[in-house]
Amino acid sequence: MSALPVREGYRLWAPTYNAENAVSQLEASLVAEMTPPLAGLRLLDAGCGTGRRLRDCGAAMATGVDLSPEMIAAGQGDLDPAIRLLVGDVRALPLPDAGFDLVWCRLVIGHLSECARAYAELGRVTARGGQVIVTDFHPAAHAAGHRRTFRHGDQVHEVEHHVHELAIHREAARAAGLRLAAVRAAEVGPSVRPFYERAGRIAQYEADRGLPVVLALSFVKEDRCGS
Ligand SMILES: C[S@@+](CC[C@H](N)C(=O)[O-])C[C@H]1O[C@@H](n2cnc3c(N)ncnc32)[C@H](O)[C@@H]1O
Repeated sequence: MSALPVREGYRLWAPTYNAENAVSQLEASLVAEMTPPLAGLRLLDAGCGTGRRLRDCGAAMATGVDLSPEMIAAGQGDLDPAIRLLVGDVRALPLPDAGFDLVWCRLVIGHLSECARAYAELGRVTARGGQVIVTDFHPAAHAAGHRRTFRHGDQVHEVEHHVHELAIHREAARAAGLRLAAVRAAEVGPSVRPFYERAGRIAQYEADRGLPVVLALSFVKEDRCGS
């Protein structure tokens, strides 16, 4: 199966994207554990897709940016109009410096061939002392043969994906003034067994059990001026 370019992949995936799958559910649970209470915080979701993670998030201000106009359009009708969704590239965010207390970048970085420019932007828009949470498809899942795929009609498509090992994330973040505070992973286990069951893939579940499929990193924006 040849991989679709990112824009084309998400154009096709947009109408059905909000249906959860094993990876997205494990990712959502892990990010919920790593995210502080959002009341009073200015939240950015960089690479927000349909903006589904911003729904009812409770932040004082919530903004989403995504490369795909189709993903933004698919989500817009469902969201509180106070949630701002913008079309834009995580490598050149259409947002001012230091405007957010918490920045998510969830399952996006793997779609980029290099991640330094994205981290530079995540660092730029985060206020000093703020937190950045990045998730990615786990390199171990890729090594085990898993790919970023979705079903469109009767076809299964793969979306272009690049593996970035932890050291690459860490170095790109460090250069952007982001200090690594936590590294977590989510593994295939009983909470996602129902997805495999519904797909009639219990043998695959047994093979995948224990495999890390989501890598999650938490960073703090350093106060370089020491104030
Ligand atoms: C797997 S989806 C994740 C969406 C959302 N973060 C979530 O967890 O529901 C990946 C998203 O990244 C977006 N994306 C890919 N490359 C991007 C880029 N360079 N800038 C902004 N968004 C990008 C895609 O359009 C897609 O909506």
